[in-house]
Amino acid sequence: MPEQIGPRGFTRRRLLGGGAAAAGAVGLGAGAIALTGRDTGATEPATEPFYGPHQAGVATAPQTHAAFVGFDLRQGLDRDDIAGVLKIWTGDAARLTQGAAALADTEPELAARPARLTVTVGLGPAVFTAAGLEHRRPAWLRPLPPFAIDRLEPGWSDGDLLLQICAEEATTVAHAVRVLCRSVTSLLTVRWVQRGFRDAAPGRTPRNLMGQVDGTVNIAAPDFDRLIWDDGAAQPWLAGGTSLVLRRIAMALDTWDEIDPEGRELTVGRKLGSGAPLTGSREFDEPDFAAVDAHGIPVIPPSAHIARARHTHDGERFLRRGYNYDDAPAPGQTSNSGLLFAAYQRDVNAQYLPVQQRLADFDALNVWTTPIGSSVFVIPPGVPEPGGYLGQTLFES
Ligand code: HEM
Repeated sequence: MPEQIGPRGFTRRRLLGGGAAAAGAVGLGAGAIALTGRDTGATEPATEPFYGPHQAGVATAPQTHAAFVGFDLRQGLDRDDIAGVLKIWTGDAARLTQGAAALADTEPELAARPARLTVTVGLGPAVFTAAGLEHRRPAWLRPLPPFAIDRLEPGWSDGDLLLQICAEEATTVAHAVRVLCRSVTSLLTVRWVQRGFRDAAPGRTPRNLMGQVDGTVNIAAPDFDRLIWDDGAAQPWLAGGTSLVLRRIAMALDTWDEIDPEGRELTVGRKLGSGAPLTGSREFDEPDFAAVDAHGIPVIPPSAHIARARHTHDGERFLRRGYNYDDAPAPGQTSNSGLLFAAYQRDVNAQYLPVQQRLADFDALNVWTTPIGSSVFVIPPGVPEPGGYLGQTLFES
């Protein structure tokens, strides 16, 4: 009997053969997830846990896509209204991150691929005022002081509440943003949405849009818990929480194009190819800031970004988990790109501010980078188990 040709040229035999190949791919997919933590699509969609002492999306290995959504409170909201928002988001996030549709999901089909989705909620200063909880506001929760390098735009700055939504797939992020914004429209208005991406071969450090390997020096165990998670000493409700400083930093790629590779390397203090410090040969070599060349000139200039950003003591370290952005340029421009610089730390004043001040005072990179947005949020602890909600310790303890 002649083989039947299907509508797209598939034969029955090819389809059956494809089935066997697909079965093989299931095994491959599972292995790929175990190795990379990524959902390869061939098998169970990968999920990140929702419940736990900390919110996901901070210690979580960074996913490829992110959207940061800043909200303003509508007029006249009180403590119960804000707690209500957080209860809705808790329920929706608990479902969406595990691959289940949210309660009022208009496109439930899109929930089936969680792709390591995480939803991280942050609170801005106004929440504490509106809820009558000023006495529970962390001392560092306020806009950063102005810096001479800043050209901040209100449309990219501040915000009363934050959703940080990250996943391996852009469709998953878009769906979660839609669902979580839609469910609270009577209480909040969207102030800004900042979308970003980062990608690299498995196990490699990503590059930013200036071409540099970005993310080499960061915090890992055993220092992570001590430097990132609050211990509740000043504000017992915050134990297990942290803070986020989000800076939108524009890159002047058109003038950066005019700099030769050597100039680019001196600006940061690291090699473009390997990301190694100028005093080393491999990415994770320790920079030697005291090294000088035959003429006595420092190999890593004191003005280099890594020389200025380097912590002067242990308590000045924080977690960097940033994303590139690449938006539509204004008419007549060729690029509108930069970094969504996201830093997490227990104490913004002690850990972040001194480093930011040093960079604002003097950093060779400042010629090509301009902060145009700035926000600070407290990231409440996680929800330990079903039945609780994000922010519960703030509102009820
Ligand atoms: C568009 C703006 C920025 C760009 C393109 C950029 C790029 C880089 C690059 C390429 C590195 C070296 C590789 C690495 O260790 O990750 C680096 C390191 C670092 N950056 Fe930035 N950065 C920017 C903004 C900032 C800001 C605003 C801060 C903090 C206020 C910061 C803090 C740091 C720190 C702490 C390090 C590690 C320094 C060390 O100890 O070696 N960066 N950055």
